Amino acid sequence: MRDASAIYPGSFDPITNGHVDIIERGLRVFDRIVIAVLKNPKKQPLFATKERVRMIQDIFASKKEVEVRAFDGLLVDFARAQGTRVVIRGLRAISDFEYEFQMALMNRSLAPDIETFFMMPSVDYTFLSSNVVREVAGLGGSVEGLVPGLVSRKLRAKMSAFQKSQKSIKAGKHVRTL
Ligand code: PNS
Repeated sequence: MRDASAIYPGSFDPITNGHVDIIERGLRVFDRIVIAVLKNPKKQPLFATKERVRMIQDIFASKKEVEVRAFDGLLVDFARAQGTRVVIRGLRAISDFEYEFQMALMNRSLAPDIETFFMMPSVDYTFLSSNVVREVAGLGGSVEGLVPGLVSRKLRAKMSAFQKSQKSIKAGKHVRTL
């Protein structure tokens, strides 16, 4: 395939080694991959959109075939605006299938010219998700080897900032006077 491009959308809150694995596999097939970071995930994200975009840009800084963009609105509209008609999604286990199937068929119903490509990550990452990473890091567990080093450092910084703010709230430093 020459000059083939694809879009890889997600919340990436934060990006994990499972996502990185899918992107690297995708680069064996596609000449250009646009990583599309959802601006407003349903839940309040741990990392702001800018932080998520920046982390992914830093991780793939040496790969000019990887672009990182924030998006909102319909994915199919954004894919078209980026000049691509292929959406990549990772499938880790059967449990992912129902949600992915529904989303792929909804996207096809909205935009029949856009195809979804499913890719399986390395078996090492089949249990891995951003949710699990956030939970483990939040409870002080190690996420080494599960996320890029940069993400691991950012998670530690977030957690220590959070703990400090909790301590100062407990100490009454943040009590506002009206
Ligand atoms: O990594 P995630 O959070 O499972 O990614 C979900 C994502 C961003 C791919 C999905 O929420 C999405 O495409 N949102 C954009 C809105 C949209 O196009 N919805 C219609 C398809 S169901």
